[in-house]
Amino acid sequence: MKKNISIAVDGPAGSGKSTVCKMVADRLGLYHLDTGAMYRALGYAAIRNGVSHKDLDAVLRHIENTEIKVSFDEEKKQHVHVNGEDVTDKIRTGEIAQAASDFGTVERVRAHMVKLQREFAAGNPVILDGRDICMYVLPDADVKIFLTATPEERAKRRFLDFKQKGIRQDATLEDIAEELKTRDAQDSSRKASPLAVAEDAYVLDTTNMTAEEACNKIIAMAEEK
Ligand code: DC
Repeated sequence: MKKNISIAVDGPAGSGKSTVCKMVADRLGLYHLDTGAMYRALGYAAIRNGVSHKDLDAVLRHIENTEIKVSFDEEKKQHVHVNGEDVTDKIRTGEIAQAASDFGTVERVRAHMVKLQREFAAGNPVILDGRDICMYVLPDADVKIFLTATPEERAKRRFLDFKQKGIRQDATLEDIAEELKTRDAQDSSRKASPLAVAEDAYVLDTTNMTAEEACNKIIAMAEEK
């Protein structure tokens, strides 16, 4: 396998990107950058500062005044910081997921994020997951994957994951399914680099697969490089 391998993974909400990419990163000794967490961090700060994604001037000021930084702890777990505050555990709400999707429709926000993500990827062996990685962030990635599963399966996984982590206890399976549907529709239909399957990406449908099986498939593809 190449020394500085880069793996790009895109897919809709709840397709298991974070879980699978973290497993691949642990086994291959790569850094896993969850780019969604960066959009969430920006959305979190915007909600706190009362910034609407519809007000472009306010969005541009918000980008300028909001420093998004990513760091990794000893276990290589990603932390995301907003102006020095570690917000990693505060960005998993439905409201912030929707804000991340809303801000992700703004071209200038995307340009800013893509720059930070490329800087991070340069010179590190990495696996990045998001919506625009294969086509925009790392178009020259060694391995490109579109990770997906049926909407029902994705909602179920997300629901069980929340239950297990003790977050969003009040949300029903139907609430989660509805949230994912709204977000996917916006992420796939926005003008600025929408979620889509890159021509040269391998589509990995994990509906009937375990995370480990999906991880094994990505590792096999990486080892061919
Ligand atoms: O991966 P996630 O569900 O945490 O992402 C939250 C939102 O952030 C997602 O609905 C759209 C936006 N996003 C994006 O536009 N581009 C990315 N590369 C990652 C996330």
